[in-house]
Amino acid sequence: MFIFKKIADLKQFLEKQTGSVGFVPTMGALHKGHLSLIEKAKQENSLTVCSVFINPAQFNDKKDFEKYPMTLSSDIDMLSQVGTEVLFLPASDEIYPDGIGQLAGYDIGYLDTILDGKFRPGHFNGVCNVVDRLLEAVKPSRLYMGEKDFQQCLVVRRLLEIKKSTIELITCPTRREANGLAMSSRNELLSKSAREKASAIFYCLKSIRDEMAKTPFSSLQERYIRYLDSNSFETEYLLLADAETLDLLTDFAPSQKMVVLLASRLEGVRLIDNLRMN
Ligand code: PAF
Repeated sequence: MFIFKKIADLKQFLEKQTGSVGFVPTMGALHKGHLSLIEKAKQENSLTVCSVFINPAQFNDKKDFEKYPMTLSSDIDMLSQVGTEVLFLPASDEIYPDGIGQLAGYDIGYLDTILDGKFRPGHFNGVCNVVDRLLEAVKPSRLYMGEKDFQQCLVVRRLLEIKKSTIELITCPTRREANGLAMSSRNELLSKSAREKASAIFYCLKSIRDEMAKTPFSSLQERYIRYLDSNSFETEYLLLADAETLDLLTDFAPSQKMVVLLASRLEGVRLIDNLRMN
């Protein structure tokens, strides 16, 4: 595996390649969910590039940034084992030579006002800044992202529209632990018992899907927020939305594609998950 730390070196290498490039951006602390993106990228492209960069610009909470898990040597091992051709491993001043004080603004509109856009002000603008800069460095044919970050996938789709980009965005299904917990780098921050307990999130999402034909969404929302919060979670939101636009819905509308999205804290660790209802 080639490892590049400088954009100029990465570009020089990529300019010599022929064929399509698949790109998987990550913040490291890699797990099987990331590896499934790499595997898909490898199947569909001549060359796969993965980036590991903990993007300071997308953390609205400084403490969250400071405690974000870092497992670089195991990340490198995992990436080599699945045959990743290129790892891009920039330092912060490579991505942000002028610092993060003056970031570019992206007009992502409605998506920035709901769910994580509302609860994490500035987060998606930080994501757009880094993804834009990474795409400029890698110039991939295809970009691979996980549906666990459902809203992020829509934001990046919007970014590609804003940039009039021809890069194809491929979104891939959430990978789960045996107990249903969505794989996430942040799971590393949970104690062993909380990691078990966190399976309650998927239990709630599945229960809502199972019960949606008989019970209004507002009753299920109340029931499962109460359930989570009586099990040591602090729930930020549990909402139903149109799966294509993320327009929030007050009740199930089976003619539309729907998704339920949730953000909840356990042991102070913010966990997000979602499940398509149909
Ligand atoms: O999903 C992530 O890990 C990050 O938000 C991303 C897309 C790598 C940008 O920093």
